[in-house]
Amino acid sequence: MKLTKENFLCCPECKSNLSVSRQNGLNEFSKQFLVCSGCKKEYLKEGYYIDFTGGRELIYKGKWDKFIRSFYAKIYTPATNFMFLFCGGVKNAKKEVLSHLDLKDNSVVLETGIGAAENFYYLSREAKNLSFFGIDIQKQMLIHSARNLKKWNIAAELFLADAEELPFKDEMFDVVFHLGSINLFQNKEKAINEMIRVAKPGSKIVIADESEKGGKLMNLFTGSNDLVVPPVNLIPKEMLHVNIETIWKGYGFVIEFWKPMKK
Ligand SMILES: C[S@@+](CC[C@H](N)C(=O)[O-])C[C@H]1O[C@@H](n2cnc3c(N)ncnc32)[C@H](O)[C@@H]1O
Repeated sequence: MKLTKENFLCCPECKSNLSVSRQNGLNEFSKQFLVCSGCKKEYLKEGYYIDFTGGRELIYKGKWDKFIRSFYAKIYTPATNFMFLFCGGVKNAKKEVLSHLDLKDNSVVLETGIGAAENFYYLSREAKNLSFFGIDIQKQMLIHSARNLKKWNIAAELFLADAEELPFKDEMFDVVFHLGSINLFQNKEKAINEMIRVAKPGSKIVIADESEKGGKLMNLFTGSNDLVVPPVNLIPKEMLHVNIETIWKGYGFVIEFWKPMKK
């Protein structure tokens, strides 16, 4: 099969195939829609990304949380660099997670919640001929990503999508990882199962976020009282070599496990 992004895509809701349904106009401002062969939902292709969210956005815990998180999205890179000063610097913090990936030359890599695509920058220096796919639920993050990827001359396929309903067919990716937001997901188990579904049998999956200690620090900014519980108990029992470690000087956790080969 030729590696084109169309080969990877399916309807995020019912997982049926997609096809181009209609195009409004023929110039550079034209809009193309993909339609699902099952539930008939349409998804708009907007410039360099396809919107698979169906209007869904980040879930906020109130007005203050919405204000803080929207502001954070705008100043994402400097704000993240500042926050990671507590954990030994952003570069070390990212590498502490990325070193857990089973990355090889020619890997097809998916990150859910791509942020500003900085992890693709580091990974592109670790192996050759990688194919990058990234999704994020915030349009602002895809804007940051597209700008950075252009600056770094890295090719990647970007999608506006929810990590809990991935728009990819089963068993497409050699490397699947998430860094930095699962604590806030509405349905963490669904997001984990989606990562497993799209990962190839025999591949490794890595999930990292703030630990309880890091969550308490974040709560000072967001005003939330929620306690973080790393979602290791949500990993299905069929997964192999499930391991959780503390990272970022105690402010984070990383969970890693392997999807079994097919019998
Ligand atoms: C803290 S940032 C980390 C970004 C990136 N992974 C990194 O390490 O630099 C978390 C990202 O997850 C995204 N996100 C949060 N909830 C999401 C969801 N349900 N689906 C997809 N992305 C989500 C946010 O928009 C944000 O860009």
